[in-house]
Amino acid sequence: MNADDILLNNGKTMPAIGLGTWRANESGVLAQAIKTAVGLGYRHIDCAKIYGNQPEIGKALQQVDVSREDLFIVSKIYENKHRPELVAGALDEILDELQLEYLDLLLMHWPFAIKPEVDTIKIVSTDLEDVPIMDTWRAMEDLVSSGKVRSIGVSNFNQSILEKMIPQCRIVPAVNQVEIHPYNQAKELVKFCKKSGIAVTGYCPLGGTRINVMNDDFIKHIAEAHIGTPAQVALSWALARGIAVIPKSTNEVRLKENLRQITLTSDEIRMFGKIDKHERKIDPARDFKELEWVFHEDKMECPLI
Ligand SMILES: NC(=O)c1ccc[n+]([C@@H]2O[C@H](COP(=O)([O-])OP(=O)(O)OC[C@H]3O[C@@H](n4cnc5c(N)ncnc54)[C@H](OP(=O)(O)O)[C@@H]3O)[C@@H](O)[C@H]2O)c1
Repeated sequence: MNADDILLNNGKTMPAIGLGTWRANESGVLAQAIKTAVGLGYRHIDCAKIYGNQPEIGKALQQVDVSREDLFIVSKIYENKHRPELVAGALDEILDELQLEYLDLLLMHWPFAIKPEVDTIKIVSTDLEDVPIMDTWRAMEDLVSSGKVRSIGVSNFNQSILEKMIPQCRIVPAVNQVEIHPYNQAKELVKFCKKSGIAVTGYCPLGGTRINVMNDDFIKHIAEAHIGTPAQVALSWALARGIAVIPKSTNEVRLKENLRQITLTSDEIRMFGKIDKHERKIDPARDFKELEWVFHEDKMECPLI
């Protein structure tokens, strides 16, 4: 096990720094970024069917000079494939696009379902359908013995969903991938996941394109003190909490920058608590009453387990 690996609850390991691929759709640019990233040392690549770019990632992966066993490839089942009879086919489609025999980690992208014919990120409330989370999860559990996926996990799951889910699982999720950056620290959820043996991956670790964490005065000050950059500070802070990070970049300089970690002092890590704003940016159904349990667990209990 590498010092920068995170141990999963099934004994497998996940590299703590991965490459995000959402909104990296410019043909040629993404393929080059994947090849550059792998050349620089990235081994963990975060993909999703709905990002629409897996075929390009698949082509690039054919050209990298690293064996398949040394890579950790993640993808996600989209909400339109939650019906249990659609899950195995959804994995086959992903493997086909990525030109792979198996995935290292397959995630349920969100804890709610939409109708199979809806294939967009911009959903409306009439697209929703009631498929219990455990029905989808049991179908994902069945995939592990097929050898087409090494670990299974979830994404965007809050604590109250996990609390209901875990006692019913044959396989406890290996990972919960959620939005984590200095303005959305998710302290309680991270504590709960760790206690339950679920590793956490933080997405939008730099705040994504809408939350400008890297302009924060406190983060800039810490960066200056360590002769590093705000991005390195934000990523190193998450890594120091035992959270995997998947920053997205297609720029060689930033790809390199995001791999360099800074050793923060325990005082500095403690001071991060002051800048938490509980500010989530990824909330595709913010206004749906029906999904309050996904985004605002304090307001409504999860009905769909
Ligand atoms: N499970 C989910 O529901 C979910 C949701 C959202 C995201 N994700 C995953 O998480 C990944 C990361 O999230 P994200 O892409 O939204 O946001 P992010 O990684 O926090 O930020 C990406 C943005 O920061 C820029 N950037 C990267 N490195 C930088 C640096 N060192 N200095 C300054 N700017 C830098 C990138 O631009 P350049 O490319 O130009 O460098 C891009 O605009 C996604 O790509 C996706 O794989 C998962």
